[in-house]
Amino acid sequence: KRVDLEKEKLLAAREAVKLIENNMIVGLGTGSTAYYTILEIGQRVKEGLKIKAIATSRQTEELAASLKIDLIDINSMDAIDVTIDGADEFTSDLLMIKGGGGALFREKIVLSLTTKKIIIADSSKKVEKLGKFKVPVETVPFSSRYVLSQIASIGGNGEIRKKEGKVFVTDQGNCIVDADFGLIHDPESLAKNLNQIEGVLAHGLFIGLADKIIMGNGDDTAVFEM
Ligand code: A5P
Repeated sequence: KRVDLEKEKLLAAREAVKLIENNMIVGLGTGSTAYYTILEIGQRVKEGLKIKAIATSRQTEELAASLKIDLIDINSMDAIDVTIDGADEFTSDLLMIKGGGGALFREKIVLSLTTKKIIIADSSKKVEKLGKFKVPVETVPFSSRYVLSQIASIGGNGEIRKKEGKVFVTDQGNCIVDADFGLIHDPESLAKNLNQIEGVLAHGLFIGLADKIIMGNGDDTAVFEM
């Protein structure tokens, strides 16, 4: 039987949105799964829910604005109550790779500021070990070649992301190196090594940045938490 991934995304999103209450500050994720969350929140706002939201990308900002979700500046508050975002890969012990859509930097900051970090995904995102999906690394353009060589020196094979034949540009005006490290046996030490490379703004290994992962699972959802 073929799994309906869109339905799984929708089910996970609906479950997550139940955690949102009046007067919360809500972090809005980016990507095709977070999309369903934003639609759902838009619907609840229309029905009278009062929240303030922070977007993790321009794309999300535009969608939220079109649904009349009240957006605020991230630097105007101390903490975010709940954030709901997607992932490219996750494990049952809540490690993730994010940034397939290029929004990893803002997503990392928003999740870091969030009290309840909720990740939603369809069942195709669950893996035993991270690394089949390449690790996105956001890089200041000036140092992209240097970053590629540093990634090679720690055992990765990096490539500058292109979109429609042109270098992909992030919301910060940077580029992304998609780095293949094979299956990642020690995500913590890889994260440390990537953090040490000069010119790297953020990388897609998200460790300690999920409290709960809600996965669509056929006609139901499954939850992973610590
Ligand atoms: C955006 O940069 C990402 O981190 C997304 O959250 C991630 O790529 C998941 O996207 P989908 O929900 O579209 O698979």
